[in-house]
Amino acid sequence: MKIQLSKPYVTQEVKDAVLRVIDGGNFILGKESEAFEKEMAAHTGVKNCVLSANWTAAVYLLCLSLKKLGRLKEGDEVIMPSHTAFPSCEPFIHAGAVVKFVDVDETYTIDPAAIERAITPKTVGILPVHLYGLAVDMERIKAIAAAHKLWIIEDCAQAQGAKYKGARVGSMTMAAGFSFFPSKNLSVFGDGGAMTTNDDELANLVRKLRNHGKRDKFTNDMIGFNLRFNEMNAAIGRIQLRELDRLNQGRRDAVALYRKLLGGVQGVTLPVERPGCEHVYHMFVIQVDNREGLGKFLGEKGVGTGIHYPIACHQQPAILALYKDIPKLPVTERVINRILSLPIYGEINAEQVTYVCNCIKEYLKA
Ligand SMILES: Cc1ncc(COP(=O)(O)O)c(C=O)c1O
Repeated sequence: MKIQLSKPYVTQEVKDAVLRVIDGGNFILGKESEAFEKEMAAHTGVKNCVLSANWTAAVYLLCLSLKKLGRLKEGDEVIMPSHTAFPSCEPFIHAGAVVKFVDVDETYTIDPAAIERAITPKTVGILPVHLYGLAVDMERIKAIAAAHKLWIIEDCAQAQGAKYKGARVGSMTMAAGFSFFPSKNLSVFGDGGAMTTNDDELANLVRKLRNHGKRDKFTNDMIGFNLRFNEMNAAIGRIQLRELDRLNQGRRDAVALYRKLLGGVQGVTLPVERPGCEHVYHMFVIQVDNREGLGKFLGEKGVGTGIHYPIACHQQPAILALYKDIPKLPVTERVINRILSLPIYGEINAEQVTYVCNCIKEYLKA
């Protein structure tokens, strides 16, 4: 049996949507993009969604907008977890901020106590990452932010559709960034991303900056960029969004079976679910002692695996070259050597999950 680590949702309807855009002759920021923005804002539960070329672009434009509004300046500090995809830190560094990397807890998401310890008079914001699809401890993080007058930008790249106490991620803070990269829960079969916010001023600035600072077709208010969104990707994204909750439930059902079959197997640590949260399992990550050995064995059995991520951000060469004070982050530094991502996607079936679990048991002689 061959089982991929992740698999996008493709149907004839998705292919027809691409052809419809080609025949329509309008390729950038048209009716499909406008409708996708409205539908995604409604699904997320926010006033504004602004599409852009990818998460990194959307959040970079957000940082530049914060600078224009005086809410971020050169040398200001932004706190974020080190255990995340490297792009999480890039827009902030490009915008002149100093990133303070802190530890995660056993949920793999940012440890609120570590945020408190990292706050200095220069801190202006926090970037909690809803890693692997699990919402962060939002109540505690919001309380810390309120006490220190900090803004929060949620990194929702891995968690589209996830909930925290009934609220969708991307709706609970000043603003949020989303990614539609092919492996994400909502994919547009290429690069793509968005920011969401209830703040109209921020949304309008990002909207202008993504398209050369245009006020209208021939008038440019600002020096902007071309970080726009394509109609084919929007047409695909609208279908994926319509199916997102169903596909996320498919991931959750698969994880319930993983838990049943792997629960109690010695040597396997399963991910924890935060009470009150709806985890959407962008990744299903276990911990084992010999993850290289298990990964190789599963590969020989036709099972795709991954490591997300083997090098933490605070240990990346680019960061070591940039900063003098590199923190010690014990949980992050332990888990990055033990984690292994197993196959998960919306339409993975019981037979496939059972096969993966049987292979793991065979390897562990459990
Ligand atoms: C947690 C996280 N943040 C940010 C990004 C960057 O997203 P994009 O590739 O759309 O810029 C990713 C995707 O790799 C991610 O997983």
